[in-house]
Amino acid sequence: MTPAPPWWRHAVIYQVYVRSFGDADGDGTGDLAGVRQRLPYLAELGVDALWLNPFYRSPMVDGGYDVADYCDVDPLFGTLADIDGLIADAHAAGLRIIVDLVPNHTSSAHPWFVEALASPPGSPARERYVFRDGRDGGPPNDWASVFGGPAWSQAPDGQWYLHLFDAGQPDLNWAQPVVHAEFERILRYWLDRGVDGFRVDVAHGLVKAEGLPDLGGYQSGLGDATYFDQEGVHEIYRAWRRLLDGYPGDRMAVAEAWVSPAARIARYTRQDELHQAFNFEFLKTPLAAEPMRGVIDESLNASGEVGAPTTWVLGNHDTVRPVTRYGDGPTGLARARAAALLMLALPGSAYIYQGEELGLAEVLDLPEEVLQDPVWRRSGHTRRGRDGARVPMPWDGDGPPYGFSPNGAAPWLPQPAEWEALTVAAQTGQTGSTLELYRHALRLRREHPALALGEGQLHWLPDPPPDVLLFARSSAAGAELICAVNLGSHPVQATWPGNLLIASAPVSAGVLPPDTAAWWSITA
Ligand code: NOJ
Repeated sequence: MTPAPPWWRHAVIYQVYVRSFGDADGDGTGDLAGVRQRLPYLAELGVDALWLNPFYRSPMVDGGYDVADYCDVDPLFGTLADIDGLIADAHAAGLRIIVDLVPNHTSSAHPWFVEALASPPGSPARERYVFRDGRDGGPPNDWASVFGGPAWSQAPDGQWYLHLFDAGQPDLNWAQPVVHAEFERILRYWLDRGVDGFRVDVAHGLVKAEGLPDLGGYQSGLGDATYFDQEGVHEIYRAWRRLLDGYPGDRMAVAEAWVSPAARIARYTRQDELHQAFNFEFLKTPLAAEPMRGVIDESLNASGEVGAPTTWVLGNHDTVRPVTRYGDGPTGLARARAAALLMLALPGSAYIYQGEELGLAEVLDLPEEVLQDPVWRRSGHTRRGRDGARVPMPWDGDGPPYGFSPNGAAPWLPQPAEWEALTVAAQTGQTGSTLELYRHALRLRREHPALALGEGQLHWLPDPPPDVLLFARSSAAGAELICAVNLGSHPVQATWPGNLLIASAPVSAGVLPPDTAAWWSITA
């Protein structure tokens, strides 16, 4: 008998934005104790693992992606005892825990950076970061920050330091062995505390182009600057893979690397590198049959070439929520539900960002005075940023804070009045709700022999109706699951065999309405 594939090859991983998931201490911000209280919800939803966004000591200039101490919990989120308790309870509930690792930059409040500012140019303390003298009275080169404005700020003595993100997030210098050693220490620290894996922030950014060349006015943005995806990053991941392999229990790491095409992404998941890389190409592709089929084929081919699973993703805390991206309103919701059934029928691993299972839309009308994303400030108030995807979860009740905070405290971002019908309580047990759709799909994915363990082959069925994605997954023993997604504007008649298992909108007499996905089963 062949051994079961490691869990991460087929896992469904739920992203917990800790700040917005559950607030146990009633200060309006989510915390680790709040996640711990809600573990039964996640176990019942049927996911395999949680990825926790950063909860480390941080001035919170960028939602915790500005880390001042990688080995401690920020008081806003709790204590080390809270994370230990959360890991233990999650494991007892059969859920694995992935934590965020932020190796591209530290916070400017990190002791290393404080020491660097207090030390002279050229000193070892400065060499841990990217300090340079200016050019013609300005910054050393023309690089722009991903968040807007220049990627350089000045130290009090006039030297400049590089920050691809906020000025409070100075970039580390990965040419220095001491930086490698420090992150290996941090990896071991969390592995020893029992985490199952890491999500590697800006995995494509650690190594900068030799000589820091000008980009010639190239507009930066997440994922499209030439200062990313340098060859040198791969050596770092080879070292980390060796370190992870030294631990028992299939520990893993997933790369956040906004690079394209799929073949470039796959390089992060070669056999001796990281285990997964988010498939942002899938997220970015318009929800239409031809481009979707193209991106699915390209992704499967590219990851297949390196023997890695494909890691599907429809949203996260940095991107506009799928309901809104796919058209907002009832159409956007219908299409997001169809996309979820599509994603969960594909081979490989999949990520669900908190609130997707409730069909939450992006909150587009947050008042300007509550916006906290540094993108808003750094873009000179021209880009509102990502707060609209980060509004705290609605659990129950008929108005804010919808059970998010225990004593009615105002959440750190205001929740919309329309969320009353979208709370976990309102959707639980309600036929046709998005939450029940996810619960059902996740159960089928675990139980159906053509989907379970994620390894069943995908093959496209011949002659699909126009604008319909139509494929089968088949198990080695011959069980089949057919998935059809109607992305056109007309209903289509199912001409394929099988028993209807689940549909994102009612399917009667075999008619699949527009913006609908469904699964049929043919058991061997
Ligand atoms: C990617 C993270 O997901 C995002 O939230 C953050 O702003 C940047 N990396 C910088 O750390």
